[in-house]
Amino acid sequence: MNLKTPEEIKIMREGGRRLAEVLATLAREAREGMTTRALDRRAYQMIHALGAKPSFLNYRPAGARKAYPYTLCASMNRVVVHGQPSDYVLRDGDLLKLDLGLVYKGFHTDSAITVPIGAVSRDAKRLMRATEEALDAGILEAHAGNTLGDVGAAIEKTAKKNRCAVAEGLTGHGVGRELHEEPTVWNTGRAGKGEPIVEGLVIAIEPMFTLGKGAIAQIRDESWATADGSLSAHFEHTVAITEDGPEILTVA
Ligand code: MF3
Ligand code: CO
Repeated sequence: MNLKTPEEIKIMREGGRRLAEVLATLAREAREGMTTRALDRRAYQMIHALGAKPSFLNYRPAGARKAYPYTLCASMNRVVVHGQPSDYVLRDGDLLKLDLGLVYKGFHTDSAITVPIGAVSRDAKRLMRATEEALDAGILEAHAGNTLGDVGAAIEKTAKKNRCAVAEGLTGHGVGRELHEEPTVWNTGRAGKGEPIVEGLVIAIEPMFTLGKGAIAQIRDESWATADGSLSAHFEHTVAITEDGPEILTVA
């Protein structure tokens, strides 16, 4: 496993702060009538203005045929991840997932949020709250002495409690000099099982939940959507395991 020194974590904290700032701005600006392409352009400009570079632009994720051509992933409604910005105009009731990564001084940070456009349904709110609660619950388990199974189990339990399903096969990951590093961070698991969590580990924890079944399918633009068409939500933070416990790096 690829562990980070306190100096490296300090750089990642600086990068993560920049990323949080960009993501918060996008969430504030996203509204009915706007295209997701406009949000992508905004993300690109802001990241460069902050002395960083987009992580996703020209990156080829595992399982994709082509390099990703945008700065931002903008996944709409049933699309869970890797949705491509387009001329799609945001509408009242849409559930928009913004996933963004940047490289700062050689280190990636990765974060995602779900943004409701206008008024969304009660079920959509339950889904969003559950997914965000699962991220918090997963992070609480992410301390030295625990295992990745503890993180996955906490996330899975939160899905069940809120009558949501975990999107199958989509995971979090280690993050650092590469966007995706070892270990794989599952959103399911058994407490006490899996890889031990140790100081210096930096991981992207990213629960992705649906309102229907957990099965997903890859669609035209290589994004992943729920197979049954149900709504999905996604929240993600980059988290460092320090001697004092988990530290969220992607915060203002
Ligand atoms: N945040 C995404 C993840 O961790 C990465 C997007 S890869 C891209 O899976 F190709 F879509 F950029
Ligand atoms: Co990620």
